[in-house]
Amino acid sequence: MRTKAAPVARPYDVEEVRAQFPILKELVHGRPLVYFDNAATSQKPRRVIKAESAYYATINANVHRGVHTLSTKATEAQEAARETVRKHIHAEHAREVVFTSGTTAGINLAASSLGQLLLQPGDEVVISGMEHHSNIVPWQLACERHGATLKAIPITDTGEWDLKKAPFSDRTRILAIGHVSNTLGTINPVKKLIAEAKKRGITTVVDGAQALAHLAVDVQALGCDLYAFSGHKAYGPTGIGVLYGREGLLDRMPPWQGGGEMIDTVTLEKSTWARLPFKFEAGTPNIAGIIGLGEAIRWMEDYDKTAMAQHEQALLEHATQGLLAIDGLRILGTAKEKVGVASFVIDGVHHYDLGVLLDQQGIAVRTGHHCTQPLMDRFGVSGTTRASFACFNTIAEVDAMVAAVKKGVKMLR
Ligand code: ALA
Repeated sequence: MRTKAAPVARPYDVEEVRAQFPILKELVHGRPLVYFDNAATSQKPRRVIKAESAYYATINANVHRGVHTLSTKATEAQEAARETVRKHIHAEHAREVVFTSGTTAGINLAASSLGQLLLQPGDEVVISGMEHHSNIVPWQLACERHGATLKAIPITDTGEWDLKKAPFSDRTRILAIGHVSNTLGTINPVKKLIAEAKKRGITTVVDGAQALAHLAVDVQALGCDLYAFSGHKAYGPTGIGVLYGREGLLDRMPPWQGGGEMIDTVTLEKSTWARLPFKFEAGTPNIAGIIGLGEAIRWMEDYDKTAMAQHEQALLEHATQGLLAIDGLRILGTAKEKVGVASFVIDGVHHYDLGVLLDQQGIAVRTGHHCTQPLMDRFGVSGTTRASFACFNTIAEVDAMVAAVKKGVKMLR
């Protein structure tokens, strides 16, 4: 009797991966594009672009509203993508997967709704000193609204949480922390801190914007209550994201935005809410984006995640060695556990000027404060040059960047 063989993940071949990204054939200032700004937004494989366009070309209709064929097909495609997300992040139920416009919207939803549910005057919310502005400002707004105080875990010289100084107290109600730092690349020990928070009865929110493309995210293993991420940093479209929430908590949380789709009944006096996840999905969703996100996840799942991560680690190690050989260059973020992010400052060279010179050679990096001004203050710098790698980048591209940085330094000093 023949038994069905388990599917084998394809071996990792960076040239085969690159061939799937149409944009990598573009020239910038007459040079081949070297795209090292993946922490800002990653590039998209052809499959994702096609999935979005096929929705518009063949089944464009609103979801959960019509009895007609197209609406049914669009609804099925959207809900299939929700199931893809559920499996990928190992949520227990598809109703725990709320579609948002991105991580920022997910955290604003969390801060607004949890603020209303949990915060009383005198309560405290704990974040960390390396958070992106989108995991700081929504909590500042919530704290102001409810008379609570925002506290932050300090950051060590290596760019890690100083957990001995975690400012928990018996008034801490919410912990909101980044899984991976967009500026430093540090992979934070979120599971450990969530366990500590849980012992204290604190509700936990994770900003996973920089994690999904690089790590296997398992929300049940992490033990978090809420987990937000964006599609566009993980090979998916812009304008689409997810807020995962534990069902018991989502049930208790009040809605964030009101409108169509999120209600059960409406009278002029009072409304009642739809079941999960629709209670949190007011208005027509980004259906094409949802379908594109589902495709991006399926695309990532076609590869062996470990092989992909090893490839990115090799890029990071090679870049780190090459950059550190440059006189006066300092890398911010030297934690042992990092994704492929090299953020650096160079004596006598302004990050903006260097970024412009690199662009002239076709190399895209991000410069500035990376939406982490408190972290810049912690390190006493106004900004950095940041190269952030993805699975389609190559060692030759890293060499090109290091050579371009050396050339830039000579010109600018
Ligand atoms: N958060 C994005 C970045 O780090 C925009 O570049």
